[in-house]
Amino acid sequence: MAPLIAPSILAADFANLQREVEMLNSSAADYIHVDIMDGVFVPNISFGIPVTEAIQRHAKKPLDVHLMIENPDNYLEDFRKAGAEVISVHYEACTHLHRTLQAIHSLGAKAGVAINPHTPVELLSDVIQDIDQVIVMSVNPGFGGQKFIENTYSKVARLKDLILAKGSNTKIEIDGGVNLNNAPKLLAAGADILVAGSFVFNSPDPVLTIHQLKSIELV
Ligand code: DX5
Ligand code: ZN
Repeated sequence: MAPLIAPSILAADFANLQREVEMLNSSAADYIHVDIMDGVFVPNISFGIPVTEAIQRHAKKPLDVHLMIENPDNYLEDFRKAGAEVISVHYEACTHLHRTLQAIHSLGAKAGVAINPHTPVELLSDVIQDIDQVIVMSVNPGFGGQKFIENTYSKVARLKDLILAKGSNTKIEIDGGVNLNNAPKLLAAGADILVAGSFVFNSPDPVLTIHQLKSIELV
């Protein structure tokens, strides 16, 4: 099956957001990945609810909102109203993860959990059936354009085994440093969704790059 592609708007030209969203509308992208950073959970600030709303006004693809923030429970409803179809919180930011996942579902959104590079997939074992997607961070969250962490492949394979063992439908999304070199190996390990920021937006033809990612064949 072809991978789902979620270009990250973090790498777009913010002065031309409408144009960038329209470019994604015209591409093979399946989602628009929206990175929210609060300067506390991660050492960077991106943008918040009004900008997410502005993206949504032009988007014809579902918004995949990745909350890299402390206390995400306080903002779930706001991001849902701003157009998020998938809301992902960080495992490391949630004391009561099961409750947070229920809150996301009660808003009618899909629920995701992102895990930092140091967080073992096994920690999700008891909630995996409540998670629509796990975002495996393949860089330390906070910035686009970082180098892919090689340990991600074995982590994805372990997560896939866990999902299958539990009979869950959870999808695996990879976020950080994804490109055409590592994508085939990630898909072979069990990934379903690929986030790509700088690789898409810094390429000469982002629509073509998205098409190339989408066209990767599993060997
Ligand atoms: C990192 C973000 C990523 C980032 C990916 O904190 O969560 O979504 O935008 O960007 P690239 O593909 O450039 O690593
Ligand atoms: Zn992200």
